Amino acid sequence: MGFSTDAIHVGQEPDPLTGAVVAPIYQTSTYVFENLDTNKGYVYARTTHPNRMALERTIAKLEGGKSAYIFTSGMAAIDAVFRLLRPGDHTILPKTVYGGTYRLVSQLLVDFGLEFTYVDTSSLDSIERAIKPNTRMLYIETPSNPTMIVTDLAAVGDIARRRNLTLVVDNTFLSPYLQRPVEFGAHIVVHSMTKYLNGHSDCIGGAVVLTRAEDAEKIYFVQRAAGAGLAPMDCFLTSRGIKTLAVRMERHDSNGAAIAKHLESHPKVKRVLYPGLASHPQHDLAKRQQRGFGAMMTFDLGSLEAARKLLNHVRLCSLAESLGGVETLISHPASMTHSAMPPEVRKENGIDDGMVRLSVGIEDVEDLIADLDQALQHV
Ligand SMILES: Cc1ncc(COP(=O)(O)O)c(C=O)c1O
Repeated sequence: MGFSTDAIHVGQEPDPLTGAVVAPIYQTSTYVFENLDTNKGYVYARTTHPNRMALERTIAKLEGGKSAYIFTSGMAAIDAVFRLLRPGDHTILPKTVYGGTYRLVSQLLVDFGLEFTYVDTSSLDSIERAIKPNTRMLYIETPSNPTMIVTDLAAVGDIARRRNLTLVVDNTFLSPYLQRPVEFGAHIVVHSMTKYLNGHSDCIGGAVVLTRAEDAEKIYFVQRAAGAGLAPMDCFLTSRGIKTLAVRMERHDSNGAAIAKHLESHPKVKRVLYPGLASHPQHDLAKRQQRGFGAMMTFDLGSLEAARKLLNHVRLCSLAESLGGVETLISHPASMTHSAMPPEVRKENGIDDGMVRLSVGIEDVEDLIADLDQALQHV
């Protein structure tokens, strides 16, 4: 079936008990046994519950994986993936990895004997050079946050195959509608479902999509043992959001393209980082591996003062962290999403104080442009 049909129907069959077209929210912590030897397949909601299982089936299908496990947040999902490693194992990550992942890795996981090297993953040479005898994992985000650097998925898939590394891709920025890393050789795909998959900014959640049975077994164990599985109500909300993923992404994509073009021609804007623009150095690569360019972009106003002026004067765009919702969010990476990165590391990674990140929503694009224009007048 097509993507939209799968998004609406896989895991979302009518309730067998009542015929309800939308499966009910199983808001219970525990399930009664019929007798000591028999239960209906559910025991205790930390382990699993019908709403979580339904959502796991939907996401595995949309990403083209064999299975998926749903966590309380994107960070819990990413943390579970790093638990596949053993002390002494080495992982290669993007220099511009999401700030929360950087915090997890640099302030917590290093204390458990895991080693990490940050490289520019758009340079295949840099990746190859960083591989050591104990390297086990190659962790990619494309496009990167907030610098919108694109990594060649087919090429990193090839490196992972040749060098026997587990390839993990964080697909949060595009969603499976616009990019399917498994088709390029990713073994594991992670998501902050808080973003496009849910799409309505009403709950937090994360997903790990697996292609190999041995990884799936371990991730399921982490989910159960550490108690990091998502609750019924939040699974229900995310399942509801996913049904409209395809139509939302189409609109995000067209609004994103229009705004990027507008900002690029604005005299107050120094540069716009958006893979859909012909000026983006990896425009052709993005075109090859993505079905669209999405609605995430970063633009540079040249200084913190200029960024502050804009951010303090937007009216329709909300100054807030997060992304991927129907409403447009605007943020300042240096002081918000990437504040865990020391200033010198931010500078080295191209995250300047004058940069503003935009998650373009699905409002009427003329209204968004008018809002940005009036705020830019204050810059
Ligand atoms: C690319 C990316 N990955 C992971 C995360 C973490 O997800 P969550 O906030 O759901 O824990 C985020 C959050 O902003 C993100 O942008």
